[in-house]
Amino acid sequence: MSMDDHLTDRRGFLQTAGALLGASVIAGDGTPLVASPQQKPADGFAAPPLPEVRIGFVGVGGQGGAHVRNMLRVPGARVTAICDIAPERAAQVQKWVVDAKQKEPALYTRGPRDFERLCESDDVDLVFNATPWEWHVPVCVAAMTHGKHAATEVPAAMTIEDCWQLVEVADKQRKHCVMMENCNYDRPEMMVFNMVRQGLFGEILHAEGGYLHDLRAIKFANRGEGLWRRAWAMKVNANLYPTHGLGPVANCLDINRGDRFEYLVSMSGPSRGLQQWAKDHFPDGAPQRSEKFVLGDVNVSLIRTARGKTIYVSHDTNLPRPYSRIHLVQGTRGLFQGYPDRVYIEGRSPEHRWEESKAYLEQYDHPLWTDLTSNAEGAGHGGMDYLEDYRLIKCLREGLPTDMNVYDAAALSAVVHLSQRSNAKRSASVDFPDFTRGKWQSTAPLGIVRG
Ligand SMILES: NC(=O)c1ccc[n+]([C@@H]2O[C@H](COP(=O)([O-])OP(=O)(O)OC[C@H]3O[C@@H](n4cnc5c(N)ncnc54)[C@H](O)[C@@H]3O)[C@@H](O)[C@H]2O)c1
Repeated sequence: MSMDDHLTDRRGFLQTAGALLGASVIAGDGTPLVASPQQKPADGFAAPPLPEVRIGFVGVGGQGGAHVRNMLRVPGARVTAICDIAPERAAQVQKWVVDAKQKEPALYTRGPRDFERLCESDDVDLVFNATPWEWHVPVCVAAMTHGKHAATEVPAAMTIEDCWQLVEVADKQRKHCVMMENCNYDRPEMMVFNMVRQGLFGEILHAEGGYLHDLRAIKFANRGEGLWRRAWAMKVNANLYPTHGLGPVANCLDINRGDRFEYLVSMSGPSRGLQQWAKDHFPDGAPQRSEKFVLGDVNVSLIRTARGKTIYVSHDTNLPRPYSRIHLVQGTRGLFQGYPDRVYIEGRSPEHRWEESKAYLEQYDHPLWTDLTSNAEGAGHGGMDYLEDYRLIKCLREGLPTDMNVYDAAALSAVVHLSQRSNAKRSASVDFPDFTRGKWQSTAPLGIVRG
């Protein structure tokens, strides 16, 4: 079946959804107000089902290791290969697999391009990439070129050219290239998505998200992300990590499924936080104290969609602050705002007053969470990483379109390069490419799935 055959006719879909709901879901101007809340997998490319998914991991550091642990608990997943430039870490993770009573996975530890040998292996269906950002595209491209599906940590790519490369190779090879945006699966985000689908907020007009996380100690560590993440702050002034804040709200706005990011403006402030941290933590003469950074400590970007909706997305990782992803979704009937989580629904909430979002969880908890809470217990980032990995494997085993596809990976990741360009041009607006090549207009919105 061709990729286009999988795309349902959008008008037909909305009519069906309207009939199922017994209510109109289309505004006078044809804009969908409320997408179908019925259970429905994602629309778009699907590959033949795999009875079991044999996974080759590339990069098994902090986050890759956490995915391996999840996959050892996901039904139908088997870890058959492990690649890392650190042989001792690869051997440690290999032992976890053996301890979980799976066959010993093959190791690929002959340096930074040894993932190419892993991608050639006949014992791998899916290459799962949790390397530093500079390796995301080379690994995914090698995987798909050798006939494997690719899953990659975030962001999928750091330049527009690389975003296009992922799209072109995935389309040509007819393979999945999924960006593993775990925040799409966090419980508040999924509850809000469910509430959006139930129409509680009316038509969604505006959203906000960001990655606001004090990473100073991590960036200066002698291991893990300290070995590569700080270097990006020396060469790129942009929103370097947009997808955690943007992924969940993009789903609420039907991005690539009825709407798309059209253009962006971006502004970065001064770069002070890392210099100050180095001064406070390293002795006189330490090389860290003379490092030069270009990354503005706070970057704010605004995106306008083709349907005129607005999104604020920020990046703030070099200053002292508590964690936040902002998480605001606002419509014609009310809004949700995160950190702390609160809800206001006109006609339901006390006038002009927030309600705690806890009050909504029982009624609007996403069915994926109610189905899988006990399975997700103890997994990374409060359990959301397990749900993310579970969904990926389920879609591959059942031959379903994945929740996120290569166009989502490209559109969300494109913010890195576009914010860099806009910021360098006194915040001039820059256009998003249409990575879907028009398919955003006919692809049905994401539905509500179960475990
Ligand atoms: N989704 C999330 O919540 C989340 C959290 C943390 C990190 N991440 C993402 O995960 C990725 C990895 O981050 P991390 O925190 O695990 O970093 P890390 O430094 O702990 O792990 C990276 C691993 O990749 C290995 N590696 C580096 N180059 C390689 C190569 N060419 N081939 C094979 N292995 C290679 C390193 O040895 C290391 O073990 C990044 O993209 C990061 O943005 C996502």
